[in-house]
Amino acid sequence: MIYFDNAATTYPKPEAVKNAMLYSLNKYGSNPGRGGHAMSYETSGKIYETRKIISDFFGIEATENIIFTKNCTESLNIVIKGLAKKGGHFICSSLDHNAVVRPLEALKNYGVCSYDIAKVEEDDFDTVRNFERLIKPQTIAVVCTGASNVFGKMLPIKKIAAMAHSYGKLFILDAAQTAGAVRIDCQNDGIDFLCTAGHKGLYGPMGTGVLILNSNERLNTLYEGGTGSYSAVLSQPEKYPDRFESGTVNVPGIIALGEGVRFVSSIGIENIYRNEQKHIISIYEALRGIPQIVLYTNPVSMNERFMPLISFNVQGIHSEDTASRLADDDIAVRAGLHCAPLAHKTYGTTDTGTVRIAPSIFTQEKDVKLLLTSIVKIAKAI
Ligand code: ALA
Repeated sequence: MIYFDNAATTYPKPEAVKNAMLYSLNKYGSNPGRGGHAMSYETSGKIYETRKIISDFFGIEATENIIFTKNCTESLNIVIKGLAKKGGHFICSSLDHNAVVRPLEALKNYGVCSYDIAKVEEDDFDTVRNFERLIKPQTIAVVCTGASNVFGKMLPIKKIAAMAHSYGKLFILDAAQTAGAVRIDCQNDGIDFLCTAGHKGLYGPMGTGVLILNSNERLNTLYEGGTGSYSAVLSQPEKYPDRFESGTVNVPGIIALGEGVRFVSSIGIENIYRNEQKHIISIYEALRGIPQIVLYTNPVSMNERFMPLISFNVQGIHSEDTASRLADDDIAVRAGLHCAPLAHKTYGTTDTGTVRIAPSIFTQEKDVKLLLTSIVKIAKAI
């Protein structure tokens, strides 16, 4: 299989990640914080080590502020609903994924909070101004993605965060799409809460996610339970990370995620981006010369910044049909709406969806050639 569906999850995973899944089942097979014996202590130590890898990677000093979740969606739900209070207000962007929009819509439907959507413009200045116009006294936080998972368009998150802070509002980043391909420093970038997936650009296994708490703002809990600590107390502990990690954690997944982050650091975030973007630029240059192909972004634009992914359509063919014709040639992409209806509305692709091409560090030039041959064949056949 020629895999270009890395924005959904990276595949393959690095050897160290695969090995970690296996050796952790053998070597770290006890429940961390739940047993008075050596293997349980060692497992706790290994989980701590992974927290440290992640806190260093995202510029956070307090390892206890790293919360392991099952995915970015869970991280976002914990923060958004944890901050929500009656009459409150949130602002998200016109490129946000349903992982952001659906929790906001749920709060609206429960009659708890309202929200507004800021349009992302070509010009970053205009984008920040759109967010700013929507700030109200009751606004709790601005929450947005670092980049569209469909079109790759990056948002000026540092500027949005600074604007939110200038009004005393919190900033929550959905880094599912950018973590691992763009340098993110919570302190420097002004991120109060960072939510991300472990299985995309961090090369960890599916079923892993991270929430970083970089704010003193108290969050209500979304769920409660056993934490292996303060067991005589019936209320949920205040202490981090216990407060947000009820129940047994995904030990093999977390340890393997740590190896994924080590892998990214060893190659270098900038090198990963450069490598993937090189493929996207050659795909773009080849596709823009084909009259039957519709492209939505220009990855070589001087004015906009994009993640290394691109969406396209073949005129007159639904995106799902194009994806299935590519699958006939053993090429994996994702088509349709990518759980991001707002982004498709913004780019005018709600009816057709788009075909998304997303390389990873493992993508080779020969994969790009085969992909382009297959797309040309589909385009010429219409
Ligand atoms: N959010 C993931 C995607 O973009 C799954 O495909």
